[in-house]
This record gives sequence, structure tokens and C-alpha cells, in this order.
Amino acid sequence: MNTEQHFPTDSQQVTGTLALSVFTAVLGSLEFGYNIGVINAPQKIIEENYNATWMHRYDEPIPAGTLTSLWSLSVAIFSIGGMLSSFCVGFISEWLGRRKAMLVNNLFAFIGGSLMGMSKLCHSFEMMILGRMVIGAYCGLASGLTPMYVGEIAPTSLRGALGTLHQLAIVTGILIAQILGLESLLGNEQLWPVLLGVTIVPTVLQMALLPFCPESPRFLYIVSKAERAKNENISFLFAGLRRLTGRLEVGDMLAEMKEEKRRMDMERKVSILELFRSSLYRQPIIIAILLQLSQQLSGINAIFYYSTNIFMKAGVQSPVYATIGAGVVNCAFTVVSLFLVERMGRRTLHMLGLGGMCICAIIMTTALALLESVPWMSYISMLSIFGFVAFFEVGPGPIPWFFVAELFSQGPRPAAMAVAGCSNWTANFIIGMCFQYVADLSGPYVFLIFAALLLFFLIFTFFRVPETRGKTFDQIAANFHQHSAGGMMDMDMDLDKPSTELDYLGEESIN
Ligand code: GLC
Repeated sequence: MNTEQHFPTDSQQVTGTLALSVFTAVLGSLEFGYNIGVINAPQKIIEENYNATWMHRYDEPIPAGTLTSLWSLSVAIFSIGGMLSSFCVGFISEWLGRRKAMLVNNLFAFIGGSLMGMSKLCHSFEMMILGRMVIGAYCGLASGLTPMYVGEIAPTSLRGALGTLHQLAIVTGILIAQILGLESLLGNEQLWPVLLGVTIVPTVLQMALLPFCPESPRFLYIVSKAERAKNENISFLFAGLRRLTGRLEVGDMLAEMKEEKRRMDMERKVSILELFRSSLYRQPIIIAILLQLSQQLSGINAIFYYSTNIFMKAGVQSPVYATIGAGVVNCAFTVVSLFLVERMGRRTLHMLGLGGMCICAIIMTTALALLESVPWMSYISMLSIFGFVAFFEVGPGPIPWFFVAELFSQGPRPAAMAVAGCSNWTANFIIGMCFQYVADLSGPYVFLIFAALLLFFLIFTFFRVPETRGKTFDQIAANFHQHSAGGMMDMDMDLDKPSTELDYLGEESIN
């Protein structure tokens, strides 16, 4: 049986509306990346400003311990904002819908950006810290809403490639922040408030474009209350589907959604607790959490938060430029992943990335340990850091973000995105807070901890993570249902197999 005959929705066509909608959504990811990267370069200058504020208030220089605490708080509170808000993704995206939720989220970006941008003028580091928390909250919501919306509007055959654009926008944001953070641009005494406030620019653009993007048809059809869907929403739904696909005939897509809805109506409403209690969801939620942990506990943010320091310790001559080099490698390999993800599949790329990172971490440790006796080891350590970043972007960077949306059908998806997002942000927070201390304790061997974790995640992926490439949401869910009912999990769910989800189309036709 050939699936293509059943799901002509799989056409590779990228319509103007689809491109516009994906572009608009990933502006949120760009902003997320920008705020990850922006804090690295201007650390010294902002610390001096905290000191000046302290002098202004108390007529004495800030005690060193207080300054360190204030700075750590400024960095880490971003992840706390993200942790808290990512947990609300499910509720907000159901309540407002995906598109309106993205629109309203921009309020956080406005408030956060303004607080940070005005903090120098107002002589207030409290404003800066609060601003970091609010912009973190924006990023937490964006990190769930963007992949959810993109996953839902993408045709099945492009879901991975379009899903990777979320990560591509994040890494572009990081790179822009690294470049603008150069002292000769905005990373200086006068202009650092602009560097932090500039985050409002993509917000304005997103707010201007969102009204032209259709609401996720899956949300309108499957999640919105049936009565509403029958009345005013049904016309939006048809209009949205036609604009996204560029086709007048959208009955096949509707048929697929109808099947997903039929299944969902048979399930009870899925709360976060139920995700863990029900044997139907336990397996996919564990996979979703572990994939997020594999992304963060790989140690990638040890590089992105502390790269300048790491390059300095590795004897690299221009650590700031090496950091930008890492940003460029980061972007380049996300593009590589974009082209490979629909060909090689998620599982293979994720394993390739984890394995490559593990080997690079071991090489980096060896090079750092030999640095004293063999000076050219500084080049090897720099190259291994670049390799580490490159392998990250092949799989562990982009894949976990959109994989969660793929693992769950419409019913449990929002709750699952919330749990997965919160796990990601919590792990991000732990690395941000603890890396420096652990690095001081274990010296050059710190990356061996990540190597061990990477090996664990590689083994887990090999045994537990199924391939989802080319499958409809319904087929993916059906594989887990079958598994939880005692059947074997099919790691490479064979598309040629007849399945009940496909067969039903023979019984019913919807136009
Ligand atoms: C992923 C991670 C983020 C990290 C970035 C690096 O998006 O979620 O924490 O900083 O990749 O490219």
C-alpha cells in the first residue's frame, strides 16, 4: 500500500502563506536566541554599571561578592522566567489559540526589552534583573508556541525541515547578539542599553505580520469547541487550509484531522498528571523529556554562556572572535541539518550528533590536559569545540524541539510541550548555575562528565526513540498505542504496512 495515494497532503509545496506564517512564528525563536547570546560579551561593562549604581546610592564600591551574586542572578533569572512560562504553554495555547498566544506573548518582550533598555538611565540593576526574567518568560512561551504552530501548519513531508527553522532562527539570534555585542558595535559603555533593548525590533515585526497568518487549522478543527468549529471557525479553517496549501481541494487534509479528532474524542482530556499516569502516554513523555535533557545536558550552553572564558583557558589568542566562530559553525550546521532531516530521519541524525559530540568532548579534554606540555594543543581544543557545536546542530539542537510536537496527537500535545519545555529550561538553568563551579573543581576534565551523559543519551536513543519522518501525527500516536497495548514498538514504523488510520479513508470521504 502506498501512503502517498492516501495522503496527497504530502505535497512539498511551500506556499507564500506557509512561508510567511513560518517566518513570522520563528521571529520568536530569533528573539529567544538573541537573549541567550546577548549577555556573554558585555558582562564586564554591565558589571561596571552595577558598580556605578551602587556608588550612586551608597557612596561606596560594590562588594565583590555582591557583584558576583547580582551578575549570576542577571544571567540565571532568564531561565527561571523560561521555566515558569514554558509550563503554561499548554494552557495558554488552548485558551487563546496558537496565533493569538504568540501575539499576546509579545507583551512580555516589550516589557522585558524596555526594562533592560532603560535600566542604565534609571540607575537600577533591579530593572535589568526583572527585565531578564520577563524576557525569559517571553522566550519560555515562544520555545513552546513556535514549534507547536509550525508543526501543526507544516505538511507532513516538510514537518522536520520546517521544524528545524525554529532552531535556525535561535542560532541566528545568538550569532546576531554575538556580533552586535562586539565593543566596536553595541557592546560598549554608551550603547549596551541599546544592545539589550534592540530585542523589541523582532517583536514589532512579529506583531505586524501575525494578523496576516492563519490560525493553525488543526487547532481550529480539533481543539476548538466543536460547536464553534461548526460555525464561525469552519470558514476560517477552510480559508486557512487553502491559503497554507495553495489548493482549493483540502478534503484529504481534513480527513486526516478528522481521524485525529475521532481518536481524541475517544480519549479523556489529557492533563499533565495523566501524561505520566496513563500507559498510553508514559513512553512518549519519557522520550520527550529525555530528548530535551539530551539537548541541555550535552553541555552546549556551557559553551554558549562561558565560551570566551573556555577559549581563554584553552590558550586561544582572540577568544571573542573564537566565540563568534563558534556562532558561525552553529548556524552553518543547523542549515546542514535542515537538508538532512527529511532524508536521514530524526533518530539517525540525533544519534550521529550525540556520538560526534561525545568524541569531541573526549578530544577536547585530552587537548586541555596536554596543553601545558604541548602548546599547539590549543588549536586542537578550539577545533574540538567547533566540532562539538557542529555535531550539536546536526541533531540534538534542532530535533528535540519539534520532535515533541510530533510524538503526541492533538489532545496531549499542549501538556506534553509544557512538560518537555519545562524540563529543557530546568536543565538549562542547572547548567548555567553549576558549570562554573564544577569546572573550577574538575579543571580540564569537566567535559568528561558531558561525554558520559552523551553516551547515556546515545544508548537511550538507540533503544527507545522511534523514527517519525514522513508519518502523520496519527500514525505516530498509533505506534505508541499499539506498543502500550503489548505490541512491539516499531523503531522505523514501516509506511508500507496497511494501517487502520489509512484504511478508514476508503469508508469515508470528506470535502
Ligand atoms: C538550543 C538550546 C539552547 C541553546 C542553543 C544553541 O536551541 O535549546 O539552549 O543555547 O540550542 O544553539
